[in-house]
Amino acid sequence: MKNKVSIIGAGMTGSTTAHWLAEREIADLVLVDVVEGMPQGKALDLQQALPVVGKDVKIIGTNDYEATAGSDIIVITAGLPRKPGMSRDDLLTANAEIVRKATEETIKRSPEAIYVVLTNPLDVMAFLTMKLSKLPPERVIGQAGILDSARMRAFVGMELGVSVENIHCYVLGGHGDEMVPLTRHSNVAGVPLREILPADRLESIVNRTRKGGGEIVSLLKTGSAYYAPSAAVAQMVEAILKDKHLAVPASAYMRGEYGLNGIFFGATVQLGRQGIEKIIVYKLDESEADALEKSAEAVWQTTEALQALVKI
Ligand SMILES: NC(=O)c1ccc[n+]([C@@H]2O[C@H](COP(=O)([O-])OP(=O)(O)OC[C@H]3O[C@@H](n4cnc5c(N)ncnc54)[C@H](O)[C@@H]3O)[C@@H](O)[C@H]2O)c1
Repeated sequence: MKNKVSIIGAGMTGSTTAHWLAEREIADLVLVDVVEGMPQGKALDLQQALPVVGKDVKIIGTNDYEATAGSDIIVITAGLPRKPGMSRDDLLTANAEIVRKATEETIKRSPEAIYVVLTNPLDVMAFLTMKLSKLPPERVIGQAGILDSARMRAFVGMELGVSVENIHCYVLGGHGDEMVPLTRHSNVAGVPLREILPADRLESIVNRTRKGGGEIVSLLKTGSAYYAPSAAVAQMVEAILKDKHLAVPASAYMRGEYGLNGIFFGATVQLGRQGIEKIIVYKLDESEADALEKSAEAVWQTTEALQALVKI
């Protein structure tokens, strides 16, 4: 039987996720959105692209959750994106309600699903999804770290003119401006970045990575990034469906890792068919541990704001 992935929210990230996934030919797809006709139109358009690229995937667009029944993976991208000048946390109130509805409507139809959450504020929306679905923590994963690390990899590639395939970067922490690019663990073909790049160039890459989403929001003026975020979701979905045991940075529920308990937070996780198989914990030096602690404080604050807003 073919895998089935349902994507809730057929906007920029949702429809682009469908595009990347259809090209991988790993699952039939369902696109759900509240806007009438839009998911149907996008699904039909994508379906008509597939003869050209030679992929056999069934794609349904709908305003009704019935078609999501029996999904292996639910991707939640429904919600408002940032506008210039907004932080991700500014989206909390509006998006909590949208994610609540998306979770409640999908979990009753796909109780065996694994959730990949994209909606911002990311760490907190993943927390909400886990609480409402009552799924075990390994079955709810937030997408942030692959994207933030890919931004850093892209900037390193632009600086050094080296293939992105040789560049390995790890960005941990909350998906906000306090995220923590781990320069000591990041490398090009095994050589630590700190040995290749002058300190000022590395610092500028770290800062640009932290503000990478905001840079695109201010350029686009309406909406936020979608190619890179959706490519990251597609990589996670593939790792799960193919049971790859792939280690990637993502937002996971913390149960003691890095001294944190009870929040979703960016860490390197190993993904397979059961979801998160393990969380890989790095040995940190003092400055890295301090930076993670600062990032965690920001996530705690938003998590508390969520708990004041929604009864979970
Ligand atoms: N975690 C990340 O790395 C990351 C990256 C990019 C975007 N995002 C977030 O993802 C979300 C979506 O971004 P986007 O660029 O796709 O925005 P978008 O506006 O293009 O799409 C969002 C879609 O959600 C739909 N929607 C709203 N309420 C809904 C509901 N109740 N049920 C179903 N669909 C509903 C809207 O109609 C819209 O089509 C935003 O919150 C954005 O901040 C996260």
